[in-house]
Amino acid sequence: EKGTYPHFMLKEIDEQPLVMRKIIQEYQNEDNEIKLDPEIRKAMTDCDRIYIIAAGTSYHAGLIGKQFIEKFANIPVEVHVASEFSYNMPLLSEKPLFVYISQSGETADSRSVLVQTKELGHPALTITNVPGSTLSREADYTLHLHAGPEIAVASTKAYTAQMAVLAILAVDTAKAKGIELDFDPMQELAIVANAMEAMTDQKDLMEGLAKDFLSTTRNCFFIGRSIDYYVCLEGALKLKEISYIQAEGFAGGELKHGTIALIEEGTPVIALATQEPVNYSIRGNVQEVVARGANACVISMKGLEKKGDSFVLPQVHELMTPLVSVLPLQMVSYYAALHRDCDVDKPRNLAKSVTVE
Ligand code: F6R
Repeated sequence: EKGTYPHFMLKEIDEQPLVMRKIIQEYQNEDNEIKLDPEIRKAMTDCDRIYIIAAGTSYHAGLIGKQFIEKFANIPVEVHVASEFSYNMPLLSEKPLFVYISQSGETADSRSVLVQTKELGHPALTITNVPGSTLSREADYTLHLHAGPEIAVASTKAYTAQMAVLAILAVDTAKAKGIELDFDPMQELAIVANAMEAMTDQKDLMEGLAKDFLSTTRNCFFIGRSIDYYVCLEGALKLKEISYIQAEGFAGGELKHGTIALIEEGTPVIALATQEPVNYSIRGNVQEVVARGANACVISMKGLEKKGDSFVLPQVHELMTPLVSVLPLQMVSYYAALHRDCDVDKPRNLAKSVTVE
């Protein structure tokens, strides 16, 4: 039920702080330790490489999951688009673990890879919002997202839930391997939940940004470096699918290798600047596009902000920024679609679960 909300998408954007708190609750025991199926822990510590397989938004969550798992648990991770993996399988390591990320658990492209990797005898873990789904039933293990039903075609709360569960999984694996971390995922997720809440309270501002930057444009670029780049991919996908504005996410440093040719007078460029090590260089990229006439919207983070930034995110842990920086992108896409009279919850040509390859 939408309740008082005009669209499921807006309701689901607003539910994200609650989903974070639900995940904290579901993945914690009475002693405040991570609660996770010991078999999953074993599968994670036994493997020599993890292959994340997913599509669309879930693929984008996988790109962030790779950062968590490699940085915390010290296991190499490859992230693959399901539809490509099926026909072009890379050389596998000796003890691979396959991790399928799928909100619906029904995506045919991902399932077809699961069938193949099971035939090869490799273990599989599905991370899904629907525990009884095909991908969940056919994998050896399942982690539940606990995001509640996601009705809008454009995925929002499932994406942030996927990243939250991947962070918990990575830290649990690190602990099981005896790696010392000064990162408490539950504490960091609680901070994220509060930051999300602060943002969902600023809808007028988001609506204003959509008006200022996207009301008449035909295209839009999202630029970022390091993990901001992966969030840019997700921001561009959101905008494309619901507002039909042609949008692309680019790594800031790649612009000069071709794409900058597309920047014209008034082209909107949304830049994420949440990462201290690349703050200087992404701001250099912003200057480059502004010099060519771009209408730049900089979304930065407290502590890294500069005069003229369009929005400053509340501060969260450096690796957790995708869970908050995606919210303004979701909301700006929502309002851009709304202003253009698009069918926000049911965009043309798209289905909620893609059950064909
Ligand atoms: C984008 C979107 C799609 C899905 C993709 C995978 O907003 O919803 O890109 O993320 O079709 O779906 P699941 O996660 O159900 O496998």
